[in-house]
Amino acid sequence: MKAVILAGGLGTRLRPLTFSMPKPLIPMAGPPMVRHIIDPLPKEVDTVILAVSYMKDLLERYFRENDVGRDIILINEDEPMGTGGALKNVSKWLDDTFFAFNGDVICSIDLTTMLEVHKAHRGIGTMALWPVSDPSAFGVAATDDLGRITTFQEKPPKGKELSNKINAGAYIFEPALLDHISEGVVSLEREVFPHILHRSLYGYTFDGYWIDAGTRENFLCAQHILLDRGQSNTCGIDNYPTGVRVIGNNLIETDYLEPSTIGPNVYVENGAKVCRGATISNSLIMEGAIIGNRATVLNCMVGPGAIVDDGVTISDEILA
Ligand code: GDD
Ligand code: MG
Repeated sequence: MKAVILAGGLGTRLRPLTFSMPKPLIPMAGPPMVRHIIDPLPKEVDTVILAVSYMKDLLERYFRENDVGRDIILINEDEPMGTGGALKNVSKWLDDTFFAFNGDVICSIDLTTMLEVHKAHRGIGTMALWPVSDPSAFGVAATDDLGRITTFQEKPPKGKELSNKINAGAYIFEPALLDHISEGVVSLEREVFPHILHRSLYGYTFDGYWIDAGTRENFLCAQHILLDRGQSNTCGIDNYPTGVRVIGNNLIETDYLEPSTIGPNVYVENGAKVCRGATISNSLIMEGAIIGNRATVLNCMVGPGAIVDDGVTISDEILA
């Protein structure tokens, strides 16, 4: 079975970090973000197709150097073709039921159960749905008693939403869906979904957690959930050098650790340096970054090699 990951966005809301690395490769509680989509895929998924349009070379290098246990096909779009255009562009590989994912979503969905439900319904597709209090910033799906989607509104004006369930960005489709996508730049959400409802597009509501990790706040929130769930190898305080005070769940890979206060929700990648008296919380500190003596870092993403000078406080920032 194949899974397509839509990962063609420029990651504008994570700039300047995404000027030098594509969003799927930003490390989240250990592995790059895209691994949090690939690793939980059901065993029957043998091939993952990544539809990208930005920094394909870096993604290619990552998958050359790291065996992820599935075949990876990277397809580049010279110009972004939209979420529908991107699927159409890889349609030659999609001759059977397939998964598709927005590349920026971190969630707890049970894909095996979703697949069983999809097969039982025999519709053209199944869209994962997630209930929220303010759905206006998302795709909104209303369903009937059988779970069939009756209306789909992409980012409706506030107050005009017909449901509180949003498109969670995880789908199972039959290849027949591809016949409903025209050539060129096409939005799945705006130009395809509203027109295939008569072919039975079902909703699948799940629980647990769900986050679109495309902004700094949401990225750090997703990191927090993953660290708390122990999906990454959070360490106990016993492992840290004397004088290092650790609060809550964190993942600290680096050896360059001077007496400092770290946590909660901090991931310090291997090769970063935390100097004496520094305080870090709710942040990502990437390889080669240096957090200076008595520096304070709150709610930040600190990119590879970035330096926070001695005594400086930064909060709510992305540094690269
Ligand atoms: N290959 C490719 N080409 N991928 C694309 C393109 C494109 O032209 N445009 C967007 N993508 C990818 C993005 O990289 C992202 O992973 C995913 O498709 C969704 O695009 P976003 O730009 O992040 O959309 P959104 O977050 O505003 O809305 C989408 O996600 C919501 C859930 O987070 C929609 O699918 C909504 O309906 C949904 O509720
Ligand atoms: Mg998004």
